[in-house]
Amino acid sequence: MAENRCVLVTGGAGFIGSHLVDTLLDRGFRVTVLDNLNTGVRTNVNPGADFIEGDVRKTDDVTRAFNSKPDVVCHLAGQASIRLAWSDPAADLAVNVEGTLNILAACRRKRTPRLLYASSMMIYGDPKTLPTPETAPALPVAHYGVTKFAAERYVALAAEDPEHPMAVTSFRMFNVYGPRQALDNPYQGVLAIFLGHALRGETITIHSDGEQSRDFVFVDDICRAWVDAIDTPATFGRVFNLGSGRATTVNQLCDAVLRQFGLDRSTFEVNTAPAQMGDIRTSEAAIEAVAEILAWRAEVDLEQGMAATVAWARGAGSKQ
Ligand SMILES: NC(=O)c1ccc[n+]([C@@H]2O[C@H](COP(=O)([O-])OP(=O)(O)OC[C@H]3O[C@@H](n4cnc5c(N)ncnc54)[C@H](O)[C@@H]3O)[C@@H](O)[C@H]2O)c1
Repeated sequence: MAENRCVLVTGGAGFIGSHLVDTLLDRGFRVTVLDNLNTGVRTNVNPGADFIEGDVRKTDDVTRAFNSKPDVVCHLAGQASIRLAWSDPAADLAVNVEGTLNILAACRRKRTPRLLYASSMMIYGDPKTLPTPETAPALPVAHYGVTKFAAERYVALAAEDPEHPMAVTSFRMFNVYGPRQALDNPYQGVLAIFLGHALRGETITIHSDGEQSRDFVFVDDICRAWVDAIDTPATFGRVFNLGSGRATTVNQLCDAVLRQFGLDRSTFEVNTAPAQMGDIRTSEAAIEAVAEILAWRAEVDLEQGMAATVAWARGAGSKQ
C-alpha cells in the first residue's frame, strides 16, 4: 500500500524515469523528481509530481531533493550512453558513480529505508552463458558497464552499513524501449535511433554484421517490476535481470522497424559500418529469479511494443 508515502525519483524527467513516475502516482505514492534535464525533458514529468531541477553530482541539489523526506528512492539519474562513456569516461564516472555515492550519503543522513537502483545488462560484458543469469560474472567491456557495476556494488555495500541498514534492490535492465525515448539522440537506444531514422526518411546504419543480438523490453513492463518490488521484502538485498528473455538480432530489429512503416530494405536505404567500441555481441536475459520472486515477466511483445512506440512517435513526441 502506498499510504501517501513519498518516492524520490532521480532521473524522473528521462525516458524510463518519467514512466516510473506515472506508475508510482497511479499506485497512490507521492513523487518528487530530481533531474538536471541533461537528456530529460521537463514536459515528460507528470504534473502530479514535484519537480526539482538539480544535479546528483551536487550535494546541495541532492539535499534539496531529500527535503521531501522520501520513504523510497528510485535512483535512475545517470549518463545512459555507451558511446559518450567512451568519449568522456571521466564525465560518465562523475555522474554514474559519484552521483550515486551522493544519493547514498543522503540516504544515510536522512535514514531513508529503501532504495532501488537502475543497473544495466552491460555489466556482463560479452557473457559466456545465454540466457545470462544474475550469477554470471560481471566483466564489463565498456566504460559505461564499469560505472554501472561500480554503482551497483556501492548500493549493495551501503545496505550493509550496520549504523544505517537500508533495503536495496538493483535491476539490471536490458534494452528498454517505448514512448518518450529520444528519437533524435544518436548516442543511446538502438530501437529509437532506427525509429527516428525511419520516420525522418534518413538512412539506417547497422554497425557490424547486424547479427549481434539484444533483449528488448517494453518500458511499461519495466515500471511494473520496479513498483511491485518496493514493498516485496524478498527483493531486498537482491539484484535482478529485467529483460524479455528473448534475443533479437539488430538485422531483425531493423526489418521490424521498417515493417511498421510498410517499408523493407528494397524500399529504404540501410547501410553497414564497423562495430563500435564497447559493443557487445549477444544479450539475452535469464529471468527466472524475477519470475519467482516478483511473479514478473514481460507481457508486451516486440511487435506490440513497437506499434505503441510508433504511434507515439507519429504524434511527434506527444505525451503518453
Ligand atoms: N534505456 C535502457 O535500455 C537502460 C538499460 C539499463 C539501464 N538503464 C539506466 O536507466 C537509467 C535511465 O535511463 P534512460 O534510458 O531513461 O535514459 P535517459 O537519458 O532518458 O534518463 C536519464 C535521466 O537522468 C538525468 N540525468 C543525467 N545526468 C544527471 C545528473 N547529473 N543529475 C540529475 N539528473 C541527471 C537525465 O536528464 C535524464 O532525465 C539510467 O541510469 C540508465 O543508465 C537504461
